[in-house]
Amino acid sequence: MREPYRMGGLPDRVTVYEVGPRDGLQNESAVVPVEVKAEFVARLAAAGHTVIEATSFVHPKWVPQLADAAELLTTMERVPGVRYPVLVPNERGLDRALEHGVTEIAVFASATETFAAKNLNRTLESQFEMFEPVVGRALEHGLRVRAYVSMCFGDPWEGPTPVAQVVEVGRRLLDLGCYELSLGDTIGVGTPGHVGALIEAFGGPGRLAVHFHDTYGQALANTLAALRAGVTVVDASTGGIGGCPYAESATGNLATEDLVWMLHGLGVETGLNLQALVETSTWLAARLGRPSPSRVVQALSPRK
Ligand code: HMG
Ligand code: MG
Repeated sequence: MREPYRMGGLPDRVTVYEVGPRDGLQNESAVVPVEVKAEFVARLAAAGHTVIEATSFVHPKWVPQLADAAELLTTMERVPGVRYPVLVPNERGLDRALEHGVTEIAVFASATETFAAKNLNRTLESQFEMFEPVVGRALEHGLRVRAYVSMCFGDPWEGPTPVAQVVEVGRRLLDLGCYELSLGDTIGVGTPGHVGALIEAFGGPGRLAVHFHDTYGQALANTLAALRAGVTVVDASTGGIGGCPYAESATGNLATEDLVWMLHGLGVETGLNLQALVETSTWLAARLGRPSPSRVVQALSPRK
């Protein structure tokens, strides 16, 4: 165990919101068997995760990899004290989630016009007509509702996203009653100063979480900037797998192991067992047929 070296202005504890089974797997072209998904979720809980985004109730033709959402929810083990949110875009998705005993959902909006069309088949404005009844009904059923806003730092078709545009979309989602807003750098183009400026434009960390894809290698630096700005919830994917099928330039999420190595090195608690995460990623990589992109997994995996 290495001795931690603390740094000023950081929280004592960070909640890692694990997105591996959803964001991590949604981009895999070869179908991953439902038993493998269930074991992945179980291993993540055993490694100490307390929130694991399990799957999506989106249109199965839009994301075929997660077409088995219902089957996964009926087969996977649910550990008491662990939350298992699922992605839901519309009322049809909410109905499916309610049928399967889901207690927490996440809606996902776009900060840009083009991505709203490509990912949701909606305009920037009409995405809210889709989310409003979902959030309203979910809250009536006592569900917790998280919101994502994608393309917060840039969009492959529109270029850099104006900060004010992100804040407007984000505020509207929070005003619907979402308990948390996760700022998505879907294509990984953000840099630390931009992260600080965006959080400041929201008036501080409030109910914000961050969700960085690591396309340009900025995810850890951006996370540190977010933590110093007061954010305490960070999305990550075990093994660093992931991406969005509707944004080709989106590669993997910030790897949970890379995040945990940095946080534990800084003396910030996560409740996570790094060795168990690395073993999970090595196990999953064998099932996916390629090595994990996480630097920490590569460094800590046994050499062949
Ligand atoms: P649409 O084609 O406009 O849907 O798609 P519609 O409302 O017109 O309905 C058409 C048909 O689909 C109907 O059937 C519906 O019942 C059915 P019909 O009456 O013709 O027989 N349908 C559904 N079936 C099952 N489940 C559903 C559902 N909804 C409609 N939920 C829709 C609109 C939103 C459904 C579609 O665009 C969609 O599924 N998009 C999801 C795309 C997606 O999952 N992308 C990846 C996740 S986002 C992400 O990764 C970013 C994030 O990580 C943050 C970041 O990185 O920035 C979160
Ligand atoms: Mg994502």
